[in-house]
Amino acid sequence: MNQAQYRDLYKFSISQPDTFWAEQAEKFISWHTRWQTVRQGDFTTNDMTWFAGGKLNACYNCLDRHLGKRKDQTAIIWQGDEPDTEKHLTYGDLHKEVCRFANVLKDLGVKKGDRVCIYLPMIPEAGIVMLACARIGAIHSVVFAGFSPDSLKTRILDADVKIVITADEGLRGGKTIPIKHNVDKALESCPDVKTVVVVKRTGKTVPFDAKRDKWYHELMSKANADCMPEVMDADDPLFILYTSGSTGKPKGVLHTTGGYLVYAAITFKYVFDYQDGDIYWCTADVGWVTGHTYNIYGPLANGATIVLYEGTPSYPDFSRFWQIIDKYKVTIFYTAPTAIRALRREGDKWVTATNRDSLKLLGTVGEPINPNVCEWYYDVVGNKRCEVVDTWWQTETGGILITPLPGATPFKPGSASWPLFGIVPAVVDDKGNEVEPDKAGRLVIKQPWPGLMKTIYKDHQRFVNNYFKDVPGCYLTGDGARCDKDGYYWIAGRNDDVIKISGHRIGTEEVESAFTSHPAVSQAAVVGVADEIKGQHIYAYINTKAGVEHTDKLKQELVQHVRDVIGPIATPEVIQWTKDLPKTRSGKIMRRILRKIACGEDESLGDTSTLANPGVVEELIAEHEKTK
Ligand code: WTA
Repeated sequence: MNQAQYRDLYKFSISQPDTFWAEQAEKFISWHTRWQTVRQGDFTTNDMTWFAGGKLNACYNCLDRHLGKRKDQTAIIWQGDEPDTEKHLTYGDLHKEVCRFANVLKDLGVKKGDRVCIYLPMIPEAGIVMLACARIGAIHSVVFAGFSPDSLKTRILDADVKIVITADEGLRGGKTIPIKHNVDKALESCPDVKTVVVVKRTGKTVPFDAKRDKWYHELMSKANADCMPEVMDADDPLFILYTSGSTGKPKGVLHTTGGYLVYAAITFKYVFDYQDGDIYWCTADVGWVTGHTYNIYGPLANGATIVLYEGTPSYPDFSRFWQIIDKYKVTIFYTAPTAIRALRREGDKWVTATNRDSLKLLGTVGEPINPNVCEWYYDVVGNKRCEVVDTWWQTETGGILITPLPGATPFKPGSASWPLFGIVPAVVDDKGNEVEPDKAGRLVIKQPWPGLMKTIYKDHQRFVNNYFKDVPGCYLTGDGARCDKDGYYWIAGRNDDVIKISGHRIGTEEVESAFTSHPAVSQAAVVGVADEIKGQHIYAYINTKAGVEHTDKLKQELVQHVRDVIGPIATPEVIQWTKDLPKTRSGKIMRRILRKIACGEDESLGDTSTLANPGVVEELIAEHEKTK
């Protein structure tokens, strides 16, 4: 697509959205029954339904309909943690496996609308189980296998899950992860889970509850490979995915079948310009939304060949990503800035030792990418031959909203560039008024699009309050941004209390409650601080209970405690002891001040005299000097 075509189609998509979305839905998706209305509801009713009356099945769209042409085409190339482990599944193979597991689920009593928790490493079974759920209309809730037993438990309970699909162990960077053990621990407080299906990944002997636990391979060996896809309403839920917000527990973002699938399919095609014969590799774990939309649903709906990788960028060495690209002749590569930064730090030699001449397009997602890093990606990884698409989106948005399009968007490294079709962003001030070009503000979206989440599972009010209350009539993203005179968006990152650590989304409040669940801690306040590799890291102000001694050993214990409660992704980097926290007269912690102190920006603290305890500021600055 060239720039003129992009502009024409964009104009059409926002001036006649219903016609545009109807055309796209027709072109990209096979419907069992056509919809009656394209969209009902909007950002004032906050109850949107896309393609009402339409019927379809997501799994059918990802597999069955391709079988005529693609039965023998590879769907998934799986590359294990060890370079010599791999598996290739054709569309025919994948279809059979998925149908088998769909029958397994049915035999285990799983019905349409039931929630299935998936806690698996990056192995083909993760995709198989997700698609099997979609096939029978069960709602999957994938939980990233790096989350702790406690985080897993919270998500199982919130979604009223009865069955968990897991593995004996995970394997990443040569290290094993005790996945089954984590499930056992989580289930101590989940009495409603009566069945656990366990994939044998490493073969390690793990505790096995003969009544509750079942081996995946044993169930599969007896399962029939014929299974009709369930006919689903477009508005039926497809999955729940938990993500962190500013406040409270992680929320269950719920996506529906029709709108989500249309959006996943079209954005995959336009953004990555996927053509037959391309080999597409997205490094995201299926535990995150990128793994859902751009590892499974988007690519498979387009009949793509994907690479699924179990391991890390640095094992056995820092060339691993580039070796995999050469090995499978990857043409489209999509990863996160944190990985690019980490690999760049190790020096060009790890990249230049490989060929990479199969590459055509590079993508990035998850956090702002610094222009220098983006240029390195373009120059060194892509040999100045491959366009880079810096794609901005969120768990809630279902798919990419702002991104360059290959061939259409002149490159400005570090900018997510222009909105995709049907997307109308704006930058607004604190009062909700649009700001001038180049002025920073809050990023909102003004028109509905089909990929947007339907609701927060069991908490529609939270959905309304979180996203639609502050700026009426708009979807509030939680990100800060500015738009330049050429209409390019520059995303600054979160302007709420969400932190992005190595691209992973964590709410400060979650980390604070993890701290305060330790017996030594009285109060905790957590902020994100810029980090050269991880993007941000956790800086914690800890106020201990009377009589507790401030030792390094206690710091280590607290760090371990947070890791145990949430998972290693939430490892705090710095702990600063504090006697008190800056509070407003109404008792609210002033995080703005804490953030500035942690970042060493004491000069711009602003007026602190209105605090209930202004004296605390000097003490915090002094202690910060000692801590850093
Ligand atoms: C951030 C990930 C800058 C942003 C798909 C957003 C980005 C949050 C970009 C959502 C980008 C994502 N440039 N920031 N290209 N992409 N973000 O839900 O702060 O894990 O709000 O979804 O990631 O994170 P989530």
